[in-house]
Amino acid sequence: MFRISTLHLAVLLILAAGLPIGCTHTGEESAAVPAKGGVAKRLENPPRGAFGYSLVASETGAPLDVEDFAPYDDCADCHERQWEEMEGSIHTIAHTDPLYRNTAELARKEAGEEIYAYCSGCHSPQGVTTGLIPSTPESELPEVVKAGILCDVCHQVSRLTGTAGPWGEPGNASLVLSPDEERKFGPPGGDDAAADHGVETREFLDRSEFCASCHTIIHPLNGLRLEHTYGEWKKSIYAEKGIECQDCHMRSVADAVKVAETLEPIAVLGRSEPSGTEREIHPHQLVGGNSNLEVLGGSAAHASMAEDRLKSSARLEIEVPSAVRAGAGLEFDVVVHNVAAGHSLPTSLTELREMWVALEVRAEDHRLLFQSGQLERDGEIPEGAMRFGAIAGDAEGNVTYKPWEVSQFLWKRLVPARGAARDSFRVDLPVGFSGPVHIAAKLFYRSASPRALASLMGDEAFEPKQVEMASAEAAVAVRE
Ligand code: HEC
Ligand code: HEC
Ligand code: HEC
Ligand code: HEC
Ligand code: HEC
Repeated sequence: MFRISTLHLAVLLILAAGLPIGCTHTGEESAAVPAKGGVAKRLENPPRGAFGYSLVASETGAPLDVEDFAPYDDCADCHERQWEEMEGSIHTIAHTDPLYRNTAELARKEAGEEIYAYCSGCHSPQGVTTGLIPSTPESELPEVVKAGILCDVCHQVSRLTGTAGPWGEPGNASLVLSPDEERKFGPPGGDDAAADHGVETREFLDRSEFCASCHTIIHPLNGLRLEHTYGEWKKSIYAEKGIECQDCHMRSVADAVKVAETLEPIAVLGRSEPSGTEREIHPHQLVGGNSNLEVLGGSAAHASMAEDRLKSSARLEIEVPSAVRAGAGLEFDVVVHNVAAGHSLPTSLTELREMWVALEVRAEDHRLLFQSGQLERDGEIPEGAMRFGAIAGDAEGNVTYKPWEVSQFLWKRLVPARGAARDSFRVDLPVGFSGPVHIAAKLFYRSASPRALASLMGDEAFEPKQVEMASAEAAVAVRE
């Protein structure tokens, strides 16, 4: 699952015991390896739906009414559990999340209202289908429009248009809303007759294609797949075994880890509503890797679940020889395994998300012989680190963090589902060196770099949490 490409890193010289120690690092490296795919050209007739570039639709094609969307409280009156699980989660802040807000306002300013409406098709489908976005100033929008992905968004989706749509796959909010106060769409199972409102079953609620409607982001003007979590999942063993997004994201982290290990879904029993009968339920936390939730207006509980999920997803390994000779080179491999994510690591918004390995090689007396991946003073990942994510470029090949400018990926390195990525390192040990040598590696994740956040948020930029996902240590004896 991995490739070792050209030797690329500048040889690092560190003075140890007065002797220069040479170190090299081989692997797929930033900027050095262009992502394949090339530059996406602007389409002559970019596809449009009834509400613009977003494919979100109403059954009749006519705009919907604000009253068609109940606030969370209305559903929470009876469905306490689902609301308790959902309150403070990322779906509730999809419109107000300050990172999103700043980026979306920038889109509005630089790319225009139509592009802003395109963003909102996923971040506030109720705003777009009611026509309030983009026409109404932000400060005058009703609360329900700013309330994120409402119960009444997901449970009023009557059908998906994905595969039959213009992109031939789910994405760009390829879903149809058919609001009706008297009827909600529910997954298979449960006692629909017992509900205080009509319930119609929709099999797709149980399937990844439903999530993919919003979690596949296709550039509306050039067709570039900006975010393709669904595509990554689709070619993984999880898709083959019928493990859907819901089987991990509508499960506790502990259960999701078991699902990933055994490739068997785990049923959770409970009630849809306190008076209902026992059935299979789907906890609504829908947590991913966003551990900054608190800063963004979400809850501490969800942020900590996101941290747990990140920590569950990878394993780090150092492959070393049992002994080396002084005067020779210590060669070792660092391997990152994606053990529990049903898609690549990192996934989605990979031009912002960052994952990297910080590595230290020390002598018995703690002298530093080699290091790699320690953040620079400005908080950026240094050149030469073993890192993962993507660098997006505009049509001219300049680096950009603005989704509307992206026309190509200049670099991309992700660890595929159940796959691994490996880099080789070499540290020269001088003659007379006495061992052993200790190697320590840590795998880190953060939502975005300080540079990216500053470029999208200006003064409102926050300090992203750095989560240690995994670590590994190894010792190698050095013989004379
Ligand atoms: C097809 C649906 C869709 C469209 C269209 C869309 N987004 Fe998103 N956006 C998402 C999803 C899903 C996520 C969460 C992905 C993740 O966290 O990995 C997200 C996350 C983000 C984030 C990161 C928020 C955070 O806290 O980390 C930003 C910023 C953002 N979107 C901006 C935009 C902008 C600006 C546009 C329009 C140019 C846009 N999005 C269009 C679905 C969409
Ligand atoms: C007056 C109480 C009440 C209110 C308010 C209410 N529901 Fe329900 N709902 C129920 C009951 C009772 C059931 C059936 C429970 C069962 O299946 O055991 C149900 C079932 C459902 C189901 C189907 C679950 C399944 O079994 O497949 C969905 C989806 C649903 N409700 C969504 C909503 C949404 C969305 C709202 C807010 C717009 C809402 N409900 C408001 C009482 C209510
Ligand atoms: C992001 C989309 C989404 C949102 C938002 C959402 N749900 Fe659901 N809900 C689902 C999916 C998907 C399922 C079924 C999962 C499956 O079958 O695998 C589900 C299942 C249900 C069920 C059936 C019982 C259960 O727990 O599985 C009820 C009742 C329900 N949701 C009510 C609500 C209420 C009330 C809210 C708001 C507080 C809400 N949902 C918000 C997607 C959503
Ligand atoms: C109507 C569009 C929509 C649908 C449907 C939807 N999502 Fe999302 N989802 C979003 C948006 C938008 C965000 C990002 C919000 C933000 O970061 O501000 C998001 C965020 C997430 C995150 C958190 C990402 C992170 O960085 O931590 C997860 C996990 C997630 N969604 C899973 C799902 C799953 C699983 C389903 C299907 C059951 C689903 N979503 C259905 C729009 C949607
Ligand atoms: C086998 C379990 C599993 C399955 C299946 C799965 N995920 Fe995940 N997902 C994870 C884990 C673990 C993480 C945390 C690590 C990470 O961020 O990738 C995660 C993270 C995410 C994130 C946050 C990414 C980020 O860092 O911003 C999103 C969004 C997401 N998943 C969406 C989906 C969607 C959509 C599907 C279905 C197409 C899906 N997931 C299927 C386990 C799973």
